[in-house]
Amino acid sequence: MHPADSSQHERQELYLNGRFVLPEQATLSVMDRGFLFGDGVYEVIPAYGGVPRREAAHLSRLGNSLRGIRLQSPLTDDAWSAVFRRLLAPASRAEPGDDQSIYVQVTRGTAPARDHRFPAKAEPTVLAMVKPLKPRALSVAEQGVAAIVRDDFRWGRCDIKSVALLAAVLLRQEAHEADAEEAILVRDGRAVEGSTSNLFIVSDGRLLTPPPSRHLLAGITRELTLELARGAGIDCEERDISLDALRTADEIWLTSSTREVMPVTRLDGAVVGDGVPGPLWRRIDALYQDFKAQLRAQRV
Ligand code: PDD
Repeated sequence: MHPADSSQHERQELYLNGRFVLPEQATLSVMDRGFLFGDGVYEVIPAYGGVPRREAAHLSRLGNSLRGIRLQSPLTDDAWSAVFRRLLAPASRAEPGDDQSIYVQVTRGTAPARDHRFPAKAEPTVLAMVKPLKPRALSVAEQGVAAIVRDDFRWGRCDIKSVALLAAVLLRQEAHEADAEEAILVRDGRAVEGSTSNLFIVSDGRLLTPPPSRHLLAGITRELTLELARGAGIDCEERDISLDALRTADEIWLTSSTREVMPVTRLDGAVVGDGVPGPLWRRIDALYQDFKAQLRAQRV
């Protein structure tokens, strides 16, 4: 390999079951229940300039997901923090402004045979790894992105951040093939969230997002967006969003740890609002960018 090709993230270690190893040294049994059943949960935590965003909230949600699948947390919050710090260390030495995303996965571990029932004894499989978070394309702020609307055919516990993501995979791929960024999912006539993001709309100057329930993931970016909006004096309400309200919204946003707050300007080919990212989005995005800058400034 040419030395210039050995960029830092290629040599970046990951954490697997108590050890920091290079990706090619990280191996798992085919009997892992994450592989056989999707029997596990995960988290994605953005880190700005090496500083994780809302780490406590992400760890608390991980705790909820683990409880949801009846697994004990394999690490204390302090131990998770120490793992993240070590994984992020090379990133903090890189260019200022370098952002990363931390991926954490816990499965029910390996069992002697494939059997749906929980094994009597199993050590959970614990994985954490980081990858660079790409800066968003200029076109997103200038033009917004496209989304499509699809029926939500996922399971009934979308509040658990499960690694069993086949429905999300198929829906996101469908969006991709329709030249759209995301599929917005509708259940019982209500738009609940995107396949990998939460949903906001602006209607008559009010910011609306569906309330937390078993039909959506309580996003950490969603919570932060609500906080920033309320702090800016924007009228916010957690309320169901009908498909009709979605189609007639003045602005549509999608939020996630990797997308921040993303403006949707085309829905199923129709123009949303004025067809460009709206005025409330501009305000929130400016606040979100300030929030990131403050985190980067905390780096030691
Ligand atoms: N997905 N809803 C779903 C179904 C999601 O998968 C995600 C995030 C969100 C937003 O949650 P947060 O703001 O905490 O990232 C909502 C992550 C990023 C993923 O699967 O990669």
